[in-house]
Amino acid sequence: MENENLLAISKEYGSPIYVYDSSKITSQYNRLTDAFKKVKQLKLNYAVKALSNIAVLKLMNSLGAGLDTVSIQEVQLGLKAGAKPNNIVFTPNGVSLEEIEEVAALGVQINIDNLSILEQFGTKHPNIPVCIRMNPHVMAGGNSKISVGHIDSKFGISIHQIPHILRIVENTGMRINGIHMHTGSDILDIEVFLRACEILFETAMNFKNLDFIDFGSGFKVPYKSGDIETNIEEFGNKMTKRFNAFCKEYGKELILGFEPGKFLVSEAGYFLAKVNVIKQTTSTVFAGIDSGFNHLIRPMFYNAHHDIINISNPNGKERFYSVVGYVCETDTFATNRRIPEINEGDTIAFKNAGAYCYSMSSNYNSRYRPAEVLWHEGKAHLIRKRETFEDLIKNQVDVDIFSEIAESAS
Ligand SMILES: Cc1ncc(COP(=O)(O)O)c(C=O)c1O
Repeated sequence: MENENLLAISKEYGSPIYVYDSSKITSQYNRLTDAFKKVKQLKLNYAVKALSNIAVLKLMNSLGAGLDTVSIQEVQLGLKAGAKPNNIVFTPNGVSLEEIEEVAALGVQINIDNLSILEQFGTKHPNIPVCIRMNPHVMAGGNSKISVGHIDSKFGISIHQIPHILRIVENTGMRINGIHMHTGSDILDIEVFLRACEILFETAMNFKNLDFIDFGSGFKVPYKSGDIETNIEEFGNKMTKRFNAFCKEYGKELILGFEPGKFLVSEAGYFLAKVNVIKQTTSTVFAGIDSGFNHLIRPMFYNAHHDIINISNPNGKERFYSVVGYVCETDTFATNRRIPEINEGDTIAFKNAGAYCYSMSSNYNSRYRPAEVLWHEGKAHLIRKRETFEDLIKNQVDVDIFSEIAESAS
């Protein structure tokens, strides 16, 4: 997006604000489907947790994507956006049997990731087909917070527990229609991921009635220049050959599934914030903005890098800044960052703000969550209003139990 468009949006709808470019989401979706065009049946289920605004879910629906969900509320958002229940997969972790049953009753594909729930669900509902999330014990993702397919991870059923899975399946008579894994975000090496895929192929041979294999996601996008990114075209090429060969071996044309979040929406997003104050100390120059980790927590939570541009002064002389927030915690977005000269009142833009940014925001320090705008075909569409004081207090119950004490104290 052009700086002028971003500035105009910030001026019209206020600051701070999230902006998403629909054309980038569409081009990423097309890039992914193109990479797998030689697979007979490809299914991309967008990971709702990355960015769950209904307008974005509607866009995914229009592109032909299904949805990957982790809570019944995400399922409900998907249904509200027009997704068909059979186009939604529910892949929760640590949720109750009751929630899983409620989602299954809606006609959504269930994906189970522990033996206890598998046995209970299979005993009660042997006629509802179920997918199983495996843990391949592979460290394919980025750092330990975002890598979830290794041996110490809480996600998935261990590949070493296949005999137990088979016993449950046989005893309950349930049908396993899918096998799944998700090794985590930011796959650094395609070859490691392909090794995990081999483990899943091997696992799949134990189940004779599969309709699909879902390989999760973790496709890495660049966050700064020179960053490693998953070479999706090369991966598509290699994976297509291997998957098609596997289907022959299996004796059935299966659906190849992925559930990308970051790959589809990360680069489409911009987070715009205003600089409240420039504060020079003995050691650094702080640019203090009208936001904090209540709106964008990835730099503090994951040590994530987000490029920052000064869209009010893009050609200014570059200087070093520490960009910090306004919440009463250490909320540093960037340290020693070279940015075109910043003046108080300037608007800066954080890039790669589509995935896990708004969806991880909070009301910490009793601040409002920002507005969201979708930039579509040259026009800005407000897709979420900024919160108000009413939103902050709408669920608070103002109990009148202290008036007597206050009276006697006065
Ligand atoms: C089960 C599952 N699938 C898919 C995703 C999406 O991953 P990414 O955003 O890296 O594509 C996640 C992310 O946490 C996940 O937990």
